[in-house]
Amino acid sequence: MHHFQYKGNELYAEDVAIRDIVAKVGSPVYVYSQATLERHFRAFDEAFAGTPHTICYSVKANSNMAVLKNFIKLGGGVDIVSGGELYRALKAGVDPRKVVYSGVGKRDDEIEYALTTGILMFNVESEQELTRISEIASRMGKKAGIAIRVNPDVDPQTHPYITTGLKNAKFGITIERAIEEYRRAKALPGIEILGIDCHIGSQLTKVTPFVDSIKKLKKVIATLREMGIDPKYLDLGGGLGITYNQEEPPLPADYGKEIVAETKELGMHLVFEPGRNLVGNAGILVAKCLYTKQRDEKNFIMIDAGMNDLARPALYGSFHGVQPVVKDQDGLIVADIVGPICESGDFLVKDREVPMFKQGDLMAFMSAGAYGFAMSSSYNSRPRVAEVMVKGSAFEVVRERETVEELIKGERVPSFL
Ligand code: LLP
Repeated sequence: MHHFQYKGNELYAEDVAIRDIVAKVGSPVYVYSQATLERHFRAFDEAFAGTPHTICYSVKANSNMAVLKNFIKLGGGVDIVSGGELYRALKAGVDPRKVVYSGVGKRDDEIEYALTTGILMFNVESEQELTRISEIASRMGKKAGIAIRVNPDVDPQTHPYITTGLKNAKFGITIERAIEEYRRAKALPGIEILGIDCHIGSQLTKVTPFVDSIKKLKKVIATLREMGIDPKYLDLGGGLGITYNQEEPPLPADYGKEIVAETKELGMHLVFEPGRNLVGNAGILVAKCLYTKQRDEKNFIMIDAGMNDLARPALYGSFHGVQPVVKDQDGLIVADIVGPICESGDFLVKDREVPMFKQGDLMAFMSAGAYGFAMSSSYNSRPRVAEVMVKGSAFEVVRERETVEELIKGERVPSFL
């Protein structure tokens, strides 16, 4: 459930008409509903009431400072994958002791930065990374808290590009190797073993793969305990899916029930890294119809947003619902909704029955709060769009629309030209 609903013929974000936002801020624009963000966080949090846990929001899904601040105020931590994300999260006021750092390619300077700020733990994704973190921490006279990201070889049954926990994926350390690496970690001078981690993929619509990987991790934990290693934190990653179209993912409460049942006996502190589940349906991308054209077999609706603004359809063939901002179209039409980018892959909707949008009509692409703006680029020298957050009847710009001047900032024509 979210707070993008019609009042009469008009689409609203909470108590604000989308039309009013565009009148003030222009199009295209991402619009986020604060009430939805908050409700999603609370639903996730409540699913684990009574169990020690920390929700480390996965910054990559939507890294806007306002979104981060919203979750931090509700008690959340963050899951980061770069120094840049750490910088943002700290600026937004995150408690460093609620930061977990994942990612297969952590650079020396990023590791140093994370150690300086005192994050909770690194989710270590390779043997060499473990050694490197220990070296850097020792040099700094510190101990780095770590969890090993174990790759449990479980199929999350989702899109191949967002499947991360299969054996041949680049992520984590194989379950066979994990014990050996924990043994080594125990002896390394710059390391303090704090946890065990896994993240098997994104947009999961069933709980079973989560439970299957917990079962596998439990075996590892049992062996570790026999070795005198007792990790406190069990980080189960993110990945809980949302409804884009017809999917029926488990509710956070149901997910919570099964996870708690499966992990209770361990007595560990649970960590979660949800991204999409918290922000996906809390945001929309609003765009305007520029032109339409009809061919014998094919209809096109050209809009002012493209694959650079919302890459998911082009990249994964993802479905995003499209709804008119004002319902005054004459019926439906099967069409492609395409952007201005010079690529045939630049579509937001492909061969779908949609309202018969006409020039000037505004439309909303739904479920665009996760991996929407965060994955946008300025390809074709298109400034990145504005972002707005709504709360009740108020709204504010939370990221200015980029300007063309900003696009060329930092570029230099060399002296030899
Ligand atoms: N933790 C780790 C280590 C991750 O790699 C990810 C996502 C998450 C947490 C958050 O997953 P979530 O709860 O959002 O499913 N761009 C793709 C999704 C890529 C996911 C990458 N990792 C998309 O637009 O569908």
